[in-house]
Amino acid sequence: MKRIKAIYPGSFDPPTNGHLDLIERGSQIFDELVVAILRNPEKDPLFSVADRRKMLEAMTTGFDNVSVDTFEGLTVDYALRIEAKAILRGIRAISDYEYELQMALMNRKLQPGMETVFMMPAEKYSYLSSRLVREVAQLGGSIECLVPELVEQKLREKMDVAHKFANGEPAGKAHSEGKGKSRKKKAQSTWAP
Ligand code: PNS
Repeated sequence: MKRIKAIYPGSFDPPTNGHLDLIERGSQIFDELVVAILRNPEKDPLFSVADRRKMLEAMTTGFDNVSVDTFEGLTVDYALRIEAKAILRGIRAISDYEYELQMALMNRKLQPGMETVFMMPAEKYSYLSSRLVREVAQLGGSIECLVPELVEQKLREKMDVAHKFANGEPAGKAHSEGKGKSRKKKAQSTWAP
């Protein structure tokens, strides 16, 4: 029987409840879903790739057909290498569409036959983005319900370290790299680094 493997590529800096919502939806239509974190040496992320991987792994332990991986270079090359047939991307609002369409068509040009599948996260996450989560957390706003508890905890730790640093206190050990399956079994809410 034909099994369809898909990748869900992204930066996930940090992963949000919107990402988790899409992972859950993707896990229900694909036989296998690989959440693929881009290792981008040109970006200055808040969380290291290792931290993001650990967070995503903890968030997805409840899905037996979901795994987490990292990749460098072209998304289509990675997808081909792991024999994935489709690329999953989320569209929150019409404003996402233009960029996502451009990427999907470029990916198809690079690798004919590689399909992009768009899914919409729940409406309650339509305004949610990693960038806004970072900004709100950095400015001391509440990010409750926007990210899983474990991500909230890691963001708080990061902000504490940044605050101590700004006040001339030693950052200590907490500082880490970066500036920063019957399908669903159970949600994981804690993560020990
Ligand atoms: O979460 P993001 O930042 O919106 O994800 C963007 C991502 C990682 C999917 C995109 O930048 C990407 O695919 N980068 C890998 C390099 C690549 O394949 N570029 C051509 C895309 S058309």
